[in-house]
Amino acid sequence: MSVRHSRITGTGSYLPPKRLTNDDLAARLAADGIETSDQWIVERTGIRARHFADPDVGSSDLGVEAARRALDAAGLRPAQIDLIIVATSTPDMVFPSAACLVQQKLGIHGCPAFDVQAVCSGFVYALTVADSMIRTGAARRALVIGAEVFSRILDFKDRTTCVLFGDGAGAVVLEASEVPGILASDLHADGRHVDILCVPGNLSGGLVLGDPLLKMDGQAVFKLAVGVLEEAARAVLAKAGRTEADIDWLIPHQANIRIMQSTTRKLKLPMDKLIVTVDEHGNTSAASIPLALDAAVRDGKVKAGDTVMLEGVGGGFTWGAVLLDF
Ligand code: UT7
Repeated sequence: MSVRHSRITGTGSYLPPKRLTNDDLAARLAADGIETSDQWIVERTGIRARHFADPDVGSSDLGVEAARRALDAAGLRPAQIDLIIVATSTPDMVFPSAACLVQQKLGIHGCPAFDVQAVCSGFVYALTVADSMIRTGAARRALVIGAEVFSRILDFKDRTTCVLFGDGAGAVVLEASEVPGILASDLHADGRHVDILCVPGNLSGGLVLGDPLLKMDGQAVFKLAVGVLEEAARAVLAKAGRTEADIDWLIPHQANIRIMQSTTRKLKLPMDKLIVTVDEHGNTSAASIPLALDAAVRDGKVKAGDTVMLEGVGGGFTWGAVLLDF
């Protein structure tokens, strides 16, 4: 078989069981004298609920559950996987990587396993790396996972950020294929915008130096996001020789329904081509795109042969898009 392409052959996802509605979260914040409301959160973001992992559950635990479901969907055993990439900004440990922990939990050994850290763009970065490795012959069957426990890095005294994020994981199996699959990708970063979305703390001498909780200038992120998501969408379509009319499903990073609807409008797509899970998941950073993709597949929306646009944007600043035939 001549291997020139990679193709998604299975998807899976996993949400920790603990679900908090906006009202649940508002009650928790009210205990500390912090005011928010279901109405504000829904109007500004589209979020209605999010899931939080228990304290003893790490990103690798969520990731391995999503991976097992993706493997089942692809009809593969863990031993058939020869590459594991985890996109995460909330790994279980400083090192080793969450990918090595996932590999261990799957009971397989020897294949390359590493994390990609591009915050909310992590999954489109990781998928692009896996696609490149498959096309060069370095791997044939990859697990590409987005897994996060953002609840661990939220400042529950900052209502402008803590209502936005949730925990979860999504995964795909990406296999070598004679037919494409991944059609094109377009990745970017601009480190001038480090400060608008960051967790500035670090470990030194056994202490946390600096603030280990998430900081965001929401309006600055919002403005940048709507611009770069449109640019990346157009760039990836041009690279693939396709047009907006070819897109069956748009799956952007699930951060804010207003940003997602703005991108959909700019691409002149009908709103029913937009996959939305932000209402139920909140912003799960690198996990949001594979979670949304899996939900769309299991809902019977995304079907074999459909053309799907994935788009990520987040801290770094990073952004990018992947166009694929499912
Ligand atoms: O994952 C990476 C990508 N991240 C994103 O895409 C996030 C992008 N940014 C956003 O989604 C939005 O900027 C936010 C949802 C974070 C904020 O929405 P906004 O429409 O930009 O609101 P704002 O920051 O302009 O705040 C409006 C008001 C302020 O009150 P005043 O100054 O008008 O009196 C805030 O203090 O809303 C207030 N506010 C809240 N009120 C109730 C901020 N957070 C809350 C809250 N509950 N949780």
